[in-house]
Amino acid sequence: MGHMSDAPTTAQPRILSGMQPTSDSLHLGNYLGALVNWVGLQDGFDAYYFVADLHALTVPTDPEVIRRRTRVTAAQYVAAGVDPQRSAVFCQSHVAEHPELMWVLACQTAMGEMNRMTQFKDKTAKGHNANVGLFTYPVLMAADILLYDAAKVPVGEDQRQHLEITRDLAMRVNQRFGADTLVVPEPHIVKASAKIQDLQEPEAKMSGSTSSDKGMILLSDDPKRIAKKIRSAVTDADGEIRYDPETKAGVSNLLVIHSVLSGTSIPQLEARFSGQGYGALKGEVADVVVEAVAPFQERLAALLDDPAELDRILAGGAERAAEVASITMTRVRERVGLLAGAVRG
Ligand code: TRP
Repeated sequence: MGHMSDAPTTAQPRILSGMQPTSDSLHLGNYLGALVNWVGLQDGFDAYYFVADLHALTVPTDPEVIRRRTRVTAAQYVAAGVDPQRSAVFCQSHVAEHPELMWVLACQTAMGEMNRMTQFKDKTAKGHNANVGLFTYPVLMAADILLYDAAKVPVGEDQRQHLEITRDLAMRVNQRFGADTLVVPEPHIVKASAKIQDLQEPEAKMSGSTSSDKGMILLSDDPKRIAKKIRSAVTDADGEIRYDPETKAGVSNLLVIHSVLSGTSIPQLEARFSGQGYGALKGEVADVVVEAVAPFQERLAALLDDPAELDRILAGGAERAAEVASITMTRVRERVGLLAGAVRG
């Protein structure tokens, strides 16, 4: 064997993702589309998973509600299987470099670029009384990502434009201030098989902001409620259990939910349910969902019953995150021409 360098050979590429604390419970779509994926990614990556509490301030919300939802969101990460020993679980607002880097990036962002962001346009078109924070939301998101030299960012399709602006900003900073100032991240758009649709409007995705209560399964729903929602899911009149998202969106969605949770392939399910009615499929989907959700609910309840433990997890996560963030921020400060200044504290 040749000479080994001192550099750690186990260093894994970093990934980072976050969710806003905007609800009291995730729904099945968030869980299968995002969280399950985060859990799996812990194996190949050095993972940073945060609660985007600063982003949640962009819409007016009661302080008590934000506080509660921030705790619940963090606890849900852990209940789903994010391991705080391996991955940093933290609150965005606990690492002051997020808004600090945002300012530097905001000064590299053209007004026109922000004007073109579709999420802002959609929200203001719906009559939201927008504030400047909502307008600059994507710049804060770019800072979240770029602080950690993240190689990949697992997000849903709806975040694609935010990742593009993040890449543009990183490349611009590198061009203006030095080639290796920031790492340009790759998007990691979650694969379509885990896309869960609304139970009542299966042409639309299951979404906390647009789905009705009947259209989504909350991870906090009890077994009876889950079964009821699945039983009343919209299907179609042809009666055949077949995967065809174009013409049979409702039945296809039920097959996807079953398949992702049970690990049975869709062709296998089609074969097994051949000749049977939708009632049989719905009954089994309800069982599969209840079985998957029960252990999650147990772990979540235990975490929410022990606020000191959750505080410890978040403090440990913030400490790990701050180590990386402060290195990036020191580099950025120096590159853009800010004096090093005195060390406080
Ligand atoms: N905008 C993301 C969402 O609404 C949340 C988010 C904020 C995020 N900062 C991030 C996701 C950084 C990934 C990386 O879902």
